Amino acid sequence: MKDKIKNAKSIEELQALYTDTFGKNGTMTAKLKTMANLSNDERAVINAENSELRQLFKEKQTELENAALNAKLATEYVDVTLDNEPENRGTLHPLTQSLKELSAIMESFGFTLWTGPEIEDDWHNFTALNTPEYHPARDMQDTFFLENGNVMRTQTSAIQIRAMEKHGAPIKIFAIGSTYRKELDATHSCMFGQMEGLYVDKNITMSDLIGTLRSMLSKFFERDIEIRIRPSYFPFTEPSVEFDMKWGDKWLEMGGAGMVHPNVLKNCNIDPNEYQGFAFGFGWDRMAMIKYGLNDLRKFYDGDIRWLKNSGF
Ligand code: DAH
Repeated sequence: MKDKIKNAKSIEELQALYTDTFGKNGTMTAKLKTMANLSNDERAVINAENSELRQLFKEKQTELENAALNAKLATEYVDVTLDNEPENRGTLHPLTQSLKELSAIMESFGFTLWTGPEIEDDWHNFTALNTPEYHPARDMQDTFFLENGNVMRTQTSAIQIRAMEKHGAPIKIFAIGSTYRKELDATHSCMFGQMEGLYVDKNITMSDLIGTLRSMLSKFFERDIEIRIRPSYFPFTEPSVEFDMKWGDKWLEMGGAGMVHPNVLKNCNIDPNEYQGFAFGFGWDRMAMIKYGLNDLRKFYDGDIRWLKNSGF
């Protein structure tokens, strides 16, 4: 029996041997039952054998269990030195990134973020901006009209009006949002992102405007940016300008600006004899495009991950 125990190959085999020895009809059980009629010496022999066998079973059981555990560990082994699958990490969309940067810059200049609806009424999008019905300047923007007379916001300038109506003067705000125009050719998208700035107080001048634009662009592009302004026309500013920035050896048109027209202030219940201010607006998604060296604005809005990854995002 001792040899059989030592040579057992599995827990099951060992259990069968155990039953043969210590079970109800086991050999050892039978011997133990005869003990009452035996001499002390004979009992001592049986007791010794009993203990020895139990010890052997215990040792063999531990040995077999360890072997089983080792076999299991060997098959379930994880090679931690193996290369992993490449990790697919998410990144911020370049537009989101630029939006955050621009907001931080404007806030550092003391401008507060303001928002407005993308479906606007005529008053905020046009009339209050000194562009009443039949004003020729309405043609400057190809507008999407809704059946109820509202429009898809053509310019974030509508937010200026909302802010001044609600807050009054002095006021120093910026707004970033989507604007919509019916420009359906290959290079334009009918939605683009605009950014608006407005600063109305008692002593605001054109130099404040130029300084703000220049500092803002320099911070955003992380280099000293040269700008120039050209006379222009917008109904809501007087005088009105367009501003360009120097990029390499080229001048790029960036947006429109000017001193807020007295009629606009009046429309928002602000006294133009007491207050004056500047305003500006430009396509901020275009700024992101220039910053990241991309050439097709519409790609920003396609949501094509392959394009984003190939562009380094
Ligand atoms: N709203 C104008 C546009 O969409 C841009 C603009 C020009 C905004 C002059 C202004 C401004 O605030 O003062 O073309």
